Amino acid sequence: MAPQEEITVLIPEEQIQKRVKELAEEIRRNYLGKCPVLVGVLQGAFVFMADLIRQLRMPLAVDFLRISSYGKNLVTSGEVKILLDLTIPIANRSVILVEDIVDTGLTVDYLKANLLARQPESLAVCALLQKPENTIKLTPIDYLGFTIPNHFVVGYGLDYAGRFRDLPYLGILPKSMKEP
Ligand code: IMP
Repeated sequence: MAPQEEITVLIPEEQIQKRVKELAEEIRRNYLGKCPVLVGVLQGAFVFMADLIRQLRMPLAVDFLRISSYGKNLVTSGEVKILLDLTIPIANRSVILVEDIVDTGLTVDYLKANLLARQPESLAVCALLQKPENTIKLTPIDYLGFTIPNHFVVGYGLDYAGRFRDLPYLGILPKSMKEP
């Protein structure tokens, strides 16, 4: 596998931090007087979630869902398996689902249906990234960080085969590093 230096920066750290702050301000304005539950989707969303909650500066609760990942595949199978479920009830709560990236939209669509079945007071989706070129299931993203072209991206929590989550920026995985 090629070294980290071959990853091209797509969105630098400062730009991510600025956008996360803007998203947090928008969410804070829309949830005045509420105590939303932020549901992070593991593993990819944990870095984004950590930065987002520290910018929110409002009463909130945090919980996580862990779902099966792509493994070494670069495309989704469309099948989502919940490996670890929420630990707090969300009925009658304002819920914000926090995702790293929306690609085909199948994962977020599945998770929305799953959470709605638990009868929250409201459900919004906050995603750091969206690749609109691959959309199969069009799901509105209420709070979106960036729209990006159709590259496989890593860093800021996103991985390829378990690597690169620790990069503070978002980068493009070079073709040479992908499985044939
Ligand atoms: P979707 O179901 O096709 O929308 O896929 C969403 C999930 O696929 C995300 O939560 C990520 O885990 C993963 N994913 C999609 N594109 C990328 C990428 O470019 N880099 C890393 N993970 C990705």
